[in-house]
Amino acid sequence: MTPYDTRIAELSLPQRAALGSGATFWTTKAVDGVPAIMLTDGPHGVRKQSGSATDHLGVASSEPATCFPPAVGLSQTWDPELVERIGVALGDECRSLGVHVLLGPGVNIKRDPRCGRNFEYYSEDPLLSGALGAAWVRGVQSRGVGASLKHFAVNNAEHDRMRASSDVDERTLREIYLRAFERVVRDAAPWTVMCSYNRINGTYAAENAWLLTEVLRGEWGFDGVVVSDWGAVRDRVAAVAAGLDLEMPATGGITDADVVSAVQEGALDESVVTRAAGRVARLAARATENAGTRTPFDADAHHRLAREAAAQAVVLLKNDGEVLPLSPSTLAVIGPFAQAPRYQGGGSSHVNPTRVDIPLDEIRSHAAGHEVTYSPDVASAVDAARSADTAIVFLGLSAEAESEGYDRDDIDLPAEQLDLLRAVVDVQPRTVVVLAHGGVVRLDEVATLAPAILDGALLGQAGGGAIADVLFGAVNPSGRLAETVPLRLQDSPSYLNFPSERGHTVYGERVFVGYRGYDARDIAVAFPFGHGLSYTTFAYSDLRVAEGRDGVTVRVTVENSGARAGREVVQAYTGLPSSRVARPPRTLAGFAGVTLAPGEQTTVEIPVRRSDLAYWDVAAHRWAVEAGEYTVWVGASSRDLRLSATVKLEGDEPVQPFTAESTLGEILTDPVAAPLAVAALSEAVPGGTGESALGTDLLKMIASIPLGRLAGFSAGRITRAQLDALLVSINSARS
Ligand code: BGC
Repeated sequence: MTPYDTRIAELSLPQRAALGSGATFWTTKAVDGVPAIMLTDGPHGVRKQSGSATDHLGVASSEPATCFPPAVGLSQTWDPELVERIGVALGDECRSLGVHVLLGPGVNIKRDPRCGRNFEYYSEDPLLSGALGAAWVRGVQSRGVGASLKHFAVNNAEHDRMRASSDVDERTLREIYLRAFERVVRDAAPWTVMCSYNRINGTYAAENAWLLTEVLRGEWGFDGVVVSDWGAVRDRVAAVAAGLDLEMPATGGITDADVVSAVQEGALDESVVTRAAGRVARLAARATENAGTRTPFDADAHHRLAREAAAQAVVLLKNDGEVLPLSPSTLAVIGPFAQAPRYQGGGSSHVNPTRVDIPLDEIRSHAAGHEVTYSPDVASAVDAARSADTAIVFLGLSAEAESEGYDRDDIDLPAEQLDLLRAVVDVQPRTVVVLAHGGVVRLDEVATLAPAILDGALLGQAGGGAIADVLFGAVNPSGRLAETVPLRLQDSPSYLNFPSERGHTVYGERVFVGYRGYDARDIAVAFPFGHGLSYTTFAYSDLRVAEGRDGVTVRVTVENSGARAGREVVQAYTGLPSSRVARPPRTLAGFAGVTLAPGEQTTVEIPVRRSDLAYWDVAAHRWAVEAGEYTVWVGASSRDLRLSATVKLEGDEPVQPFTAESTLGEILTDPVAAPLAVAALSEAVPGGTGESALGTDLLKMIASIPLGRLAGFSAGRITRAQLDALLVSINSARS
């Protein structure tokens, strides 16, 4: 027992129960010396609501705070170090606003492009999501402010989010949907984890003992507080029994009384309540001891950081004929987002920004001395585009088109925007498209029409300046897509299994999510995962792959072969063509950013953890690395793979003893068992003895027969006792 546990054990049962639910919408209770703390959203800025108006939908006002790029933009930086610096700034803003726990990061996987909340999540890839989420947590917590890793788990849609069950097999759960959470918990130890609204295989996340206790605490070593998403608790007693520590928001004490009665009636173990109260008390102590004095944060410095991040987040999707970067010239700026930018998503994460950069103003200041017209509508746009040197067309999704709380039905840009683009391109071949959106949009026609496309996703309050910096080359773009842009929605691996129906979502595409699915089915995409161009070029050479103590080290020489300084994001992918389990052709195994002057070259080193090569062995019910020859690719995107090499790895799969239910195929492909089996079984094979009698065709035909059935099939040539003896000899030879 820690001193805390002793102190907590001295509190009355009602006091202990009271610690487990909110006092108000955003605060916990002060109980007998345990201080109250404040938790607020998150994740890309601090949404501290003042006064009596409280909501979790981003409706009522909140105090001004820096609106950094939401996760959809931030992830495109592929830069954990930058994300950590933003975390530090967010931590400072929390301290100055008196916030103890910031509700983020969200590391749910972008399973389907229609999920309305994809803007709040990082990627379709668990490694990228986990690496960025861990960096965010490290940054925030370095300032003595807690993080809340959310939404745990498998919350990949908004439709019916408070009831629907995500029905998913364990291998997929472990390899895709839990993996980013695991990485953040193990690498960055968040102070809290927020359980999600949905059910998982029928059980609410808040009541899921397997998830909250067995996996999160038992396997991953989490020692913080499990807090509910706001309103996610249906049955507090069941939730506490499963491992929930703190129900939010306030329930007016009603569910505290439920907990007390359940203990008194013997339906809930009192020690569980004490442990949960202890964890909340420890969190409160940790948060208040670290709070320090409230001094104003440096809004200018944070705005500069937001601009740096936004500029690094911009992805240059296309740049035919080097239309970009622009030199100052006459420009026609078109589309309402140029003046009223779309820079964050709707819902609980909605921040009241300290200021907002307007793209049009920023473009005008870069093009000083040249005429820059602005046309929000088609009528004036065409004339303006015709008489300018270049047209810049802002396209994207409106705030109403996507938000927390609901999903989209399609991924199309509004039809009138495509009409506008067609009309402009008709008169102005030098047309640059700038995109704003939280979820992926269909781009096949845009990419056919426009020679240059900048994808800003959502860039936060400084996005306007960042876009202008990239347009004019003050910043050389280095953003990379964190999500595949399909040619059409129907190509998406989850297309037929979204949204939920009658309360269930079938995760039928299994591990083949995002690029894993497009690559496995060899489907053409508009822009692949990891894609992003630069105003310079990079050459790759001399790939070396070596096995180290805890994985593999990938080294490659990268040279800036163009004329401008720039940053390349070098991506390493691995695959195991000989795998005995269904696997994507390749998965992201590591990445590194490198900034190089023209002509400069360097060796980029990417460590690949052995644990990231493991798959979830369903039979053994644990992670395992399969033995074999792994291919390692390095490149500039998942489909721009420049070099490859192979590395042979020892496996650590558990040896499962063969049984009478093991098939002949399984036994005859095992190098140790096969010769023993061939010798013993050839007697049982009609028409021959000896190894040669078991020809390839025959082997194929009998491969699916369980060993034990041979006694019957062989018409007495081999007995059950002989089969038992064979199993003993095979199993002892293999152990
Ligand atoms: C959201 C959470 C958020 C909470 C508090 C919920 O609706 O799902 O992400 O932290 O509200 O605003």
